[in-house]
Amino acid sequence: MSPFLLTRTLPADATDAALRADVLSGLTKQPKTLPPKWFYDARGSDLFEEITRLDEYYPTRAEREILIARAGEIAALSGARTLIELGSGSSEKTRHLLDALPALHTYVPVDVSESALAGAAEALLAERPGLSVHALVADFTHALELPESPGPRLVVFLGGTLGNLLPAERAEFLRSVRARLSPGDGLLLGTDLVKDEATLVAAYEDAAGVTAAFNKNVLAVVNRELGADFPLDDFAHVALWDPEHEWMEMRLRARRALTVKIRELDLVVQFEQGEELRTEISAKFRERRVREELAAAGLRLDQWWTDEAGRFALSLATAD
Ligand code: AVJ
Repeated sequence: MSPFLLTRTLPADATDAALRADVLSGLTKQPKTLPPKWFYDARGSDLFEEITRLDEYYPTRAEREILIARAGEIAALSGARTLIELGSGSSEKTRHLLDALPALHTYVPVDVSESALAGAAEALLAERPGLSVHALVADFTHALELPESPGPRLVVFLGGTLGNLLPAERAEFLRSVRARLSPGDGLLLGTDLVKDEATLVAAYEDAAGVTAAFNKNVLAVVNRELGADFPLDDFAHVALWDPEHEWMEMRLRARRALTVKIRELDLVVQFEQGEELRTEISAKFRERRVREELAAAGLRLDQWWTDEAGRFALSLATAD
């Protein structure tokens, strides 16, 4: 009887077309950039899971601590009957929330990884056979067609992934989330917080080199998918704190002058010795900035919870 539906809103070749467009535009401008979403093939997803277990990488543990402490309050305040999770991955952290919502009718996990969605739904339905699960294979930064389901709705966006978007992209993303909600519906948002530089840099430059491998994996993805010949060993991992923008940046620095061919794009790209390619920004927030950005999108910040150490925050906002 367990109702499980999976809808692909991405055409089968959409990922390929988007990768081509991103690589072409990102590598033909100065400074060069690649968007972080291309880290996450199977190996990249495994490396990210490994990052979440590193001593230096506190965000995952800090967010889990808040979720465990506040799941009951979140459930009571939202009264959600439909829970929509953007970038759900394995849905591991969300379990705490789902367990606190016995009256939940529909769970809508949204992720670009179909295998992650299917695995998570299977595990969940084994425990909650009455729950309706409608998984969406979709890129959450694009317009989402949400299935019909009872309100109130709660959109959940965890992990601090909002920080991967530039300010203008965040504004657009938050407006698109608000557009999918009715007044009274909610958004539960995880954001990493501004803190001392040493803690931040260590989280993105771990001693075991897992983050370095994760960063270079984007080159392996481009090599495999677009027939490129990036020499991974000729790039060095760089993690730095930008105090003006209050974001972490990951870059790949060419150790020597390089010529890279990207066969499928008929493109040749030159790197000077020391040239850096930006692969990720990860913005860190303060309560005021979160409140203002939510308000600009028509979302009112109602609750702000941090872990004991004040490293990470969960915000509960309501659609006006
Ligand atoms: C999954 C986007 C939240 O920005 O901290 C981890 C990804 N990058 N280490 C983050 C990441 C480098 C992570 N997010």
